[in-house]
Formats: sequence, C-alpha cells, structure tokens
Amino acid sequence: MSNYKKLITLINRKQAKVCVVGLGYVGLPIAIEFAYKGFFVYGFDTKESRVQRLKKGISYIDDISDKDVKKAIGKKLYPTCCVSDLSKADVIIICVPTPLRKRKVPNISYIIKASNSIRNHLRKGQLIVLESTTYPGTTRDVILPILQKGGLKEAADFFLSFSPERIDPGNKKYPFAKIPKVVGGISKEATALTKTLYSKVIDKVVTVSSAETAEIVKLLENTFRIVNIGLINEFAMVCNKFRIDVWEVVKATKTKPFGFMPFYPGPGLGGHCIPTDPLYLSWKARKLGFKTKMIDLAAKTNLFMPYYVAQRAEELLQLKGRDIDKARILVLGVTYKKDVKDLRESPALDIIGLLKDKGSRVSYSDPYIPYLDINSICMKNTKITQAGLKKYDLVILTTDHKKFNYKPIAKNAKLIFDTRNAFEKAGIKSAHIIKL
Ligand SMILES: NC(=O)c1ccc[n+]([C@@H]2O[C@H](COP(=O)([O-])OP(=O)(O)OC[C@H]3O[C@@H](n4cnc5c(N)ncnc54)[C@H](O)[C@@H]3O)[C@@H](O)[C@H]2O)c1
Repeated sequence: MSNYKKLITLINRKQAKVCVVGLGYVGLPIAIEFAYKGFFVYGFDTKESRVQRLKKGISYIDDISDKDVKKAIGKKLYPTCCVSDLSKADVIIICVPTPLRKRKVPNISYIIKASNSIRNHLRKGQLIVLESTTYPGTTRDVILPILQKGGLKEAADFFLSFSPERIDPGNKKYPFAKIPKVVGGISKEATALTKTLYSKVIDKVVTVSSAETAEIVKLLENTFRIVNIGLINEFAMVCNKFRIDVWEVVKATKTKPFGFMPFYPGPGLGGHCIPTDPLYLSWKARKLGFKTKMIDLAAKTNLFMPYYVAQRAEELLQLKGRDIDKARILVLGVTYKKDVKDLRESPALDIIGLLKDKGSRVSYSDPYIPYLDINSICMKNTKITQAGLKKYDLVILTTDHKKFNYKPIAKNAKLIFDTRNAFEKAGIKSAHIIKL
C-alpha cells in the first residue's frame, strides 16, 4: 500500500497520531480539539514551563479553561518537550510564532527551527502542515528543501501543506470547529490528506490550488482589516476636524444593506496578527520589485493613532486649563483588545509611554493585568474607586473590557476621553465624555 493510502486510512479511522508543534494561542486549541475528537495528540513545545503546566491540568490561554485542559489530558492529549516524539506522529501541525524583527521585516526563524527538528525525525508516511501566518512561498521555498534534505521526497514519502489559522481569541461566536479552514498542499496528495484531516474536526474545509494560494489567503484577510481600520481611523481624524461624531456616521452608514461593512476607529492596532501579517506580504512583494502602497499607508496611519490620542489628550486638558506635564491621567485598559489578557503590540502601552514623555503622572487600571513590566514601563494596576477617580485630571479609555463598570466611572471622573465609544455603548452620554 502507498504511503498516501496508508495515511488516509489512518486519518479516516482517527488512528493517525497528531503532533501539534507550538502550544500557544493557536496550537493549544487545535491540540485540544483533535484530542476531543478522538485522535491521540502529542502537544510539543520547547517551553518546558508550558508543558509542565499542561501536565498539571493548568491553562495559560484565555479561551481555554483548566477544565478544558484536564478533559483533553484525560482523553488523548500528551504534552511533551521531547523532540523525538515527532517521529511517533503521523501528522505534524506547526503553530510557531512569526513575529517581525526590529526593522519590521519577517522573522521566520521559529519556522526554520521547527522544520529542522521535524527533518531530524522525518519518516515515510508523515503529513506536515504549517499553520503559522507567513509570506507566500514559505512552505515550498523554505520548509520543503529542509524536509527533503534527508533524501525523502514530498508526495511519495511524506506530504506537506499550508493551512492558515483563523482563530479569533475572545470570540465566543465562532468556536474553532465553526470557522471554515482553507487548505493548499505542495502536492495534490498533500491537499487531499490535509482536507481529510481537518474534516474530522472542522465543519467546512475549502481547498485551493497551491500552498502559496493558501498562504496569501490569510494575508488578504488581515490586509483587508489593516486597510479598513486605517481608513476608518483616518475618517475619525477627519470627522474631528469637522466636529462630526464618527461613531454616529458609522452607525448611520451601516444601515445601507449592501456594499458597506462597518469598521470602527480606535487608539491603534495591537495583537500578533493585524499589525504584523500584512508586513510579511509587503516585505515579500518588495523583494519582487512591487511596492504595496495601500498596506504601507494603512500601517502608517494606524501606527500614528497612539500619537493622535496623546495629542488629543493634551488638547482636552488645555481646554480645561490643565497642562499635560502637571496632569494626572488614568488609562483604562491596557490589553490590545477587550476581554483578553494579551498585551502584544498593545497601543495602550505606546499611549502610556507618550503621556509619560510629556511629563504626565500616569496610572492604569485593567482587570486582566495586575502589573506591567514591558517596554520600560513598570507599573502596578490601580484599583478603581470613587474617591480615586476624582483625583485624575483625565481618564482615557483605551480598551473597552466588559468588566469595567462604566456608570460609576462616568459619574466620578472629571474628564473622560473615550477611544472606543464604550460609554455610549453602555448607554451613558455626557458633556465630560469626549469621544475619539
Ligand atoms: N494569536 C492569534 O490570534 C493568531 C490567529 C491566527 C494566526 N496566528 C498565527 O499563528 C502562529 C502562532 O501564533 P500564536 O499566537 O499561537 O503564538 P504563541 O507565541 O502564543 O505560541 C507559540 C508557541 O510556540 C512555541 N515554540 C516556539 N518555537 C518552537 C519550536 N521550535 N518547537 C516547538 N514549540 C515552539 C512557543 O514556546 C509558544 O508556546 C503565528 O504565525 C501567528 O501569526 C495567530
């Protein structure tokens, strides 16, 4: 029997052993889902502390509870740091980070390192799937040569494909199984095997003609977001010049039943995906002699937003006769989006830094972050109290966590700058609440 036939039979019978490489925001939910659906899963991570926590049934990811971890371990999830376990798996799914380097160029060193580990344990009959977001060509031009170094051939001996991860941390409406999965293989055999694999855990799998197409699908998704967010952020700044409420504008515009999709302004972009992924595309396009003007402009506009917020804060204080270098400011919410613990690339951190540079005394309050020790900011969370709120010249709402109790904040703060329209959404309107 061919390697392909053997593997497809194993997958169809759920006897294929799956190894997820990298147990972060993406990898851990995938590993758990495969274990729940009856597959034996090795969860491989180089960070020993993470593996130890999982073995004890402790989660370190927002959307995954300790109970979820315990249930998966009780089924068939085996967390491991042992790289030789890679050879025991029939399917290996790579979910390692793809950050940017300081000069905003792609850093695919984690993918290369993981691929080298897999190559050292590669055997006939394995399927390797890359899920990490990256530029088109990574699977074919970077991973394939590494895996073929040992003499095994793709499509005959092993199979390689790309399938972008679309998980949205904190989004309860679309759990893992309900988000359609796009798959593109190096060979048609790889596409077929990957489609069969994901069909066991996800309701809908969409195949495309190549790994490159699958890679760029993810980049279109996040480019669409960065450009539209850049556009609405620019629109917010224009509306402010006209003294028009941008939030009211979007609310009215979205009543058009076709041809418009609402995006909302904010204090800037954060997280691991939207600020990063489109820059993977623009970098690769530049290598091919093409300049992505839209992406570059959107990235620049979004990067400007923390400066804009700090500047507006200064103007608002001036209107109240307060100088920013003598002001006490409370920043509400420091994570990059609401209801998550994730601080990666959070614009609130830039805003805190900018306000401090202007000489303000800045505190923060965030129910998810007990202390900050990041980007040369060392601060402790401030508990919100009625008396405490009265001490601040300005409160800036940067992250609209559901846990904030908006009514008492509005009642006791002297002046509020709301960058998320959170107070109005909570039914509170007042002259001392100024919106972005
Ligand atoms: N976080 C998201 O919301 C999201 C959504 C869609 C796609 N993605 C993409 O998925 C990929 C992973 O992102 P993430 O947020 O899960 O990252 P993460 O930092 O949360 O997790 C990555 C994990 O990989 C581990 N790791 C690093 N190198 C390793 C190696 N050589 N072998 C084994 N483990 C290794 C790390 O220790 C860490 O636990 C990235 O490419 C990201 O762009 C992320």
